Amino acid sequence: MERLEAALDKARHSRESIQTDKKSDAVRPLSAAGTTELWQQLKEFKISSRAARSNRITTLTNNKLSSPYDLLRSRVLRLMRENKWHTLAITSPNVACGKTTVCANLAISLSRQPDTRVLVIDLDLRRPSLHRILSYRPNHSFHEVLEGKVQAEDQLVRFGDNLAFGLNNKPARNPSELLQSKQCQTKLAQVQAAFKPDIVIFDLPPMMVGDDNVAFLPTVDAGLLVSAADSTTVAQVDTCEKEMAEMTNPLGVVLNKCRYFQEDSSYGNDFY
Ligand SMILES: Nc1ncnc2c1ncn2[C@@H]1O[C@H](COP(=O)(O)OP(=O)(O)O)[C@@H](O)[C@H]1O
Ligand SMILES: [Mg+2]
Repeated sequence: MERLEAALDKARHSRESIQTDKKSDAVRPLSAAGTTELWQQLKEFKISSRAARSNRITTLTNNKLSSPYDLLRSRVLRLMRENKWHTLAITSPNVACGKTTVCANLAISLSRQPDTRVLVIDLDLRRPSLHRILSYRPNHSFHEVLEGKVQAEDQLVRFGDNLAFGLNNKPARNPSELLQSKQCQTKLAQVQAAFKPDIVIFDLPPMMVGDDNVAFLPTVDAGLLVSAADSTTVAQVDTCEKEMAEMTNPLGVVLNKCRYFQEDSSYGNDFY
């Protein structure tokens, strides 16, 4: 706990300098290709309806099961546009709250808006799972892009025209150090400069499990907290919301796995 408090303190003080650093960093383009060409050149993958069903991906089409995510999408888009925010971190108090499931569905729902380019990066580098939920195992991991071992354009995969994912096929060896490194911020800035996504979503580790997020949350524009009705306590949500507010702009809390809403929404998510 003491370690977490010290890290939080450090994050609070370093937030401003990180934001200034990000602005002043010289961002080198990844290649001479234009943005549209870069997107088109990315390897494309599809999700079968069977995989979608078993992994709770409900947003491939506009239907009754996609509506909670479509509602979340509209709120996220409105707030991000109003505030000119581009980067959103998704985290939760503890494990298995449904963060990665929400991340994938929100991204697919956003990408059904043809004028919105979305990039999703799996930064849960200890337990990456976005590739499993999407049923796509990449040859290389996105953490290898951050480490400078692989080019982003060879690693990112495209789903449809305007959604790309940076997935991992295995955990990183030194997740904390990697997320805290200047190289990580520089690489992410380069990827964003080249692909020009309207929104970048980061799937982060849970907040109460380690301090990986403490270094990273201050670098994003906004954060969304996913809680699970069956396992997260009100006190945990409260603590994490406060901690998040110290580090970035809290966008809200998703109440996931909420059986009470099942009859109305048929899925079990609510947002506030
Ligand atoms: N709304 C929901 N209702 C029931 N189960 C869910 C819901 N959302 C996610 N899950 C399940 O909970 C488990 C953990 O989900 P995941 O997205 O991997 O969580 P996290 O990324 O927070 O660890 C998975 O088995 C997933 O299918
Ligand atoms: Mg996850």
